[in-house]
Amino acid sequence: MAEEMRVVLRNYGKIDPLNIDDYINAGGYKALEKARSMSQADVIAEVRKSNLRGRGGAGFNAGMKWNFAYGVQADQKYVICNADEGEPGTYKDRIIMENDPHAVFEGMAICGYAIGANKGYIYCRGEYPYVVDLLNQAIAQAKAKGVLGEFDIEVRMGAGAYVCGEETALIESIEGHRGEPRYKPPFPPVSGLWGKPTIVNNVETFANVAQIIEKGGDWYAGLGAASYPGTKVLTLTGDVVNRTVIEVPTNTTIREVIFGFGGGIRDGKKFKAVQIGGTSGGFIPESLLDTPIDFDSMTAIGAVLGSGAVFVMDETRDIVDVVERIAGFFEHESCGKCAPCREGTMRMYELMKKVKSGKGTVKDIELMKKLGGVMSVACLCGLGQAAPSPVLTTITHFRADYDAKLQ
Ligand SMILES: Cc1cc2nc3c(=O)[nH]c(=O)nc-3n(C[C@H](O)[C@H](O)[C@H](O)COP(=O)(O)O)c2cc1C
Repeated sequence: MAEEMRVVLRNYGKIDPLNIDDYINAGGYKALEKARSMSQADVIAEVRKSNLRGRGGAGFNAGMKWNFAYGVQADQKYVICNADEGEPGTYKDRIIMENDPHAVFEGMAICGYAIGANKGYIYCRGEYPYVVDLLNQAIAQAKAKGVLGEFDIEVRMGAGAYVCGEETALIESIEGHRGEPRYKPPFPPVSGLWGKPTIVNNVETFANVAQIIEKGGDWYAGLGAASYPGTKVLTLTGDVVNRTVIEVPTNTTIREVIFGFGGGIRDGKKFKAVQIGGTSGGFIPESLLDTPIDFDSMTAIGAVLGSGAVFVMDETRDIVDVVERIAGFFEHESCGKCAPCREGTMRMYELMKKVKSGKGTVKDIELMKKLGGVMSVACLCGLGQAAPSPVLTTITHFRADYDAKLQ
């Protein structure tokens, strides 16, 4: 779309992803060459200056994370690209990898140079076998051309567990163990894969890096919202006219996303709610639609930018029905390692089923609020911590939907 700002998807539709020369002719791998002519500290400083923050959900400053790994002495370090993309309604990493795999490799190789790692892994969602195949072909081309130098990349395939997108569960999975999150600290930049300093970044995060090195951190820091600069690739799903992928500056408002890029609500119906950031995202009512999509603005309204999924619901949607199904998803996906998540997701699902069936009471709503509050602070990883968010935000903003079903 004309109004998009394409940084990550700059080559989308313009190059053949399986022809490395196309990428090189479009300026590809120049940033890696430039990075290698700089000191490691200068590369990290440039990324820090850009204020690039993680696009996988947690919004952590990428340069700062790299600096932690750079500062640790070790005989081996690793770079992992998180391409697990298990968040329902999210398929932006697939689009990036399918259309411009070398942009991801280049970002990983720059990271590898900066922290002193010569080995990278791409942990790709198991339901993307076609992408795994494409990545392997593109890696073979990069190796044949010698563009990655000493830096080696290997693809590992996930097996379908949502929790394996959590960085330490992902690391466990690559090591061949059951995918369960680790206790932190130590964090992966200090002790990650096989106990070695490891950087885990999202596909979209890595896809930004080459341009930051090429055009400078100041250029990037000037795009979009100051506290979370750059662009965000969003996937629009649900009752919106244009169900599609867009890349917009981070100061774009939710209203612009849904009613501008998205073309509004389908079939002439009215807007009811939007859930941003995937299943664990908060539900946003009409009154908050003028909030920019950047990480901090979303957090301030009790929502999350997360992976950038935008799930739009029209006036006919029953919020309790939607949230009950989401609660079922979390109950199913909880890995069971910690009690607050294992028990909490189960009890939350039971309560939601009770409310949906018309047997719930006001006391159940209060219990869900209390349970959600405990889970958000007591669970071991982000899965359980964020799982109550759809319940809690809908009780706040769409209470009438609950009240209509209570005894
Ligand atoms: C349950 C769960 C699932 C996650 N799934 C993903 C995922 O599919 N992709 C991703 O990049 N990050 C995912 N994350 C976030 C990662 O733990 C981690 O923060 C991220 O990969 C770091 O990269 P970034 O800083 O570039 O965002 C998930 C976190 C949790 C708690």
